[in-house]
Amino acid sequence: MNDVLHHNLNYKKYVIDPRLQYFKPHSIKIVKSFSDEICHGINRDSKYILPKFFYDKKGSNLFEQICALHEYYPTRIEISILKKIQHELHSLLDDSYRLVELGSGSSVKTRLILDVFESICDKIEYFPIDISEILTESSEFLLNDYRYLSITGIIDTYEGGLEFIKHYDDRKNLIIFLGSSFGNFSPSEGAKFLKKISSTMKKGDLFLIGLDLVKPKHILENAYNDSQGVTAKFNLNVLSRINDELDADFDLTNFQHYAIYNEKDHRIEMYLKSLVNQSVIIAKSNILVNLSKNELIHTEYSHKYKITQIENLLDVAGFKIKKMWTDDDKFFSLTLAAKK
Ligand code: AVJ
Repeated sequence: MNDVLHHNLNYKKYVIDPRLQYFKPHSIKIVKSFSDEICHGINRDSKYILPKFFYDKKGSNLFEQICALHEYYPTRIEISILKKIQHELHSLLDDSYRLVELGSGSSVKTRLILDVFESICDKIEYFPIDISEILTESSEFLLNDYRYLSITGIIDTYEGGLEFIKHYDDRKNLIIFLGSSFGNFSPSEGAKFLKKISSTMKKGDLFLIGLDLVKPKHILENAYNDSQGVTAKFNLNVLSRINDELDADFDLTNFQHYAIYNEKDHRIEMYLKSLVNQSVIIAKSNILVNLSKNELIHTEYSHKYKITQIENLLDVAGFKIKKMWTDDDKFFSLTLAAKK
């Protein structure tokens, strides 16, 4: 089979079996090293660690645990909305679509959409886009459960993967971006990202995005300060990761998980708070970090949206909304959009 167009010569194709292949760029372009990015964020006055660094093996497991907590309503509610709209999705799709997912960690949710495809298509195509290679692991399970599924993983950034798909072929795409992962972006980055998505879409392509909604402060703060302390472990784990991978000596008992809802900017803000005046060595980055008592290291924004704001965001980015769904309490939203 030689269906790789000229544009995709930058990618190497790996065929694992007749139903599983993946594409990986020959050279990962201008990726800064973990060390450089940590150093850049922490060797300064207002310190930060990017949330993408939460997800090492341990962090990914902790995130799965968070998703199972009752206080962390987003996963549970998004799944309930997906179940509720399966029949509607069925009527909005036909067998000319394939499924493209930004990220590939959300296997329960992916399955709910694959179930819809299974009732429409003889052959289902699923293209997960993920920078990490875990997508090759999760694929095996999906292939076992869906006999008529074939998977083409794209191991690249979301932007790279979207560009890849744009030039791949003429098949229509349903692109999904679930879990309110979009909420990590700052408003300006988010707007740029949505424009990127709409610019890679063609007529007939669809985009389904899951976004968390604005709600009373105590509910939000409880979701990010769970009573079992799983979110605290998840947040602190990024320091153990830096200890392990960059030969640093963060003492985790000298830090505290801190998450608050910023009502003005509609976002949860997560930090690691230094409990004492301390100096930490990050050997592999060659830096000494001084932290004063109560100093905060920012680790995550998780934006919450109003319905009107979602309508506006999508409109400005070049989408027209086909349908929006929420749960009865209006805790979480799913929006299906096409290119204008
Ligand atoms: C994966 C970014 C959607 O913001 O709710 C969960 C990550 N952080 N608890 C979120 C997270 C703390 C999650 N996202």
